[in-house]
Amino acid sequence: MTHHPMLDVISQALVAATTRRTGFTLATLATVTPAGRPRVRSLILRQFAADPERLFFATDARSAKVAEMRANPQVALAMYDDAQSVQLRAEGTAAIIEDETERQRAWQTLAPHSRTQYADTAVPGTALSAAAVSDDDATAFQRFAWVGIELAWFDWLDLAADPPERWQLSRSDTTWTGQQVVP
Ligand SMILES: Cc1cc2nc3c(=O)[nH]c(=O)nc-3n(C[C@H](O)[C@H](O)[C@H](O)COP(=O)(O)O)c2cc1C
Repeated sequence: MTHHPMLDVISQALVAATTRRTGFTLATLATVTPAGRPRVRSLILRQFAADPERLFFATDARSAKVAEMRANPQVALAMYDDAQSVQLRAEGTAAIIEDETERQRAWQTLAPHSRTQYADTAVPGTALSAAAVSDDDATAFQRFAWVGIELAWFDWLDLAADPPERWQLSRSDTTWTGQQVVP
């Protein structure tokens, strides 16, 4: 994998966002609905991996976003770190991880209070009813989806720099190329 120097800066920021709480940790994820409309929601970025660059998050397998990504895996992310005055945007292709070992490993990294969110029999986004009950940890695991986004495009906007700096990077095959652009 050929690296652009800005890729190291971005990678370090994403490692930080997924190992402690930074401004990038709570990201906005955009999907495309079956009707072709954009839809966004906030979520916690949980893990970053390199070669190829991927971001992972946890969600409910029954949530609308999972169905949307299965139908159209093209997604976009926006992050803003107020402390650094940096916006990072990313685009890529989402995959719902099917490998049970990888899912189990990710499940174990979730805090117990995060895991209990998946124990509820009620389906996210459906009308609230009193009938929902809570299931055991093994059943909750079945509802847990671990999603990896393979990243192919970054836009880094640093408003703390004077003058402001903006970089765009894109990946084709294993090579990242980038250039500084007008903010
Ligand atoms: C601070 C915060 C953190 C959130 N983190 C997650 C998350 O990590 N995973 C997730 O699926 N939803 C998370 N949500 C909820 C989503 O924003 C969204 O409401 C929910 O996942 C349903 O989205 P969907 O109907 O588009 O699937 C979070 C919401 C907030 C406000």
